[in-house]
Amino acid sequence: MPGEPTGAAPARAGSTARDRATEALRDVAREPGAAKPDPILVADGVVRRFGGLTAVNVNHVEIQRGAITALIGPNGAGKTTFFNLLTGFDRPDEGQWKFNGDAVQGVPPHKVARRGMVRTFQLTKALSRLSVIDNMRLGAVGQKGETFWRALIPSLWRKQEAEITERADALLERFKLDKKREDFAGSLSGGQRKLLEMARALMVEPHMVMLDEPMAGVNPALTQSLLGHVKNLREDGMTVLFVEHDMDMVRDISDWVIVMAQGQVIAEGTPDSVMADPRVIDAYLGAHHDGAPDPSAPIDNEPAAGPKATDGPAERE
Ligand SMILES: Nc1ncnc2c1ncn2[C@@H]1O[C@H](COP(=O)(O)OP(=O)(O)OP(=O)(O)O)[C@@H](O)[C@H]1O
Ligand SMILES: [Mg+2]
Repeated sequence: MPGEPTGAAPARAGSTARDRATEALRDVAREPGAAKPDPILVADGVVRRFGGLTAVNVNHVEIQRGAITALIGPNGAGKTTFFNLLTGFDRPDEGQWKFNGDAVQGVPPHKVARRGMVRTFQLTKALSRLSVIDNMRLGAVGQKGETFWRALIPSLWRKQEAEITERADALLERFKLDKKREDFAGSLSGGQRKLLEMARALMVEPHMVMLDEPMAGVNPALTQSLLGHVKNLREDGMTVLFVEHDMDMVRDISDWVIVMAQGQVIAEGTPDSVMADPRVIDAYLGAHHDGAPDPSAPIDNEPAAGPKATDGPAERE
């Protein structure tokens, strides 16, 4: 079908992006590093060390285009570090990855964003002393300071101004932030800031959106709306990779789940298959060994005792 990503399951009349993602992933092996029919992102041998600690050691991972993939794992597993590497906010010691077929390691974050891969942060980075609409305008120029001042001086970008403002306003309306347009971002609630961050990420019209704990600290009244927005990204043809600790949410919205522990991908599969996987339960129970998780280790708990619903981020160090 014209416009259909290569290798994706053929679209049936009336089928949703979720149906297509489910279909495309149906026969994918439930194992770490599994090949996908149409990967938008492929990473190989990505290693990041902090002194003696290997925070990320991902042998091979592929992210299926058009699907919502959850990246889960206990605190300190390396999820945020992996996001930082992929989006150019940190540099790996080793490794390569390709986004849409192009190598992107070593590319700075704002250029990664222009190529269509944007991320949000575990701790929101909305600029609190700027208005909501100015935060959105900054989103249009990527994610780094190089063009920061240019973005704030209208005479330098007059040509694009109308178009960018129009897009920003449409997104603010969609995310129900239009009434906050002129308010300082700092005056928004935690949930509204998460919405602003997501809306701002969409200013570059990305192909893939990476969300680091989009629901963390969000008032339950806004949770459903945030979940709805994430699902809509998929229906709009985007690929979503998100980090989340709340397993009910992971189950609700993801087509595929990748599990990290101690820097490595230790399991992959559908939400149901990974949550019943002994290696995953073991990792969440804080395995009593120091090396890689041992799949043969005895399990004396029900699967429900593994990744927990409402398992919020714990204190670290
Ligand atoms: N800049 C840094 N310097 C030193 N160690 C770091 C740095 N960033 C992360 N780490 C360490 O790397 C490991 C992985 O951290 P990371 O933040 O990626 O984990 P995470 O999976 O995102 O955890 P959480 O679920 O708590 O957000 C942790 O042990 C952390 O302490
Ligand atoms: Mg993190």
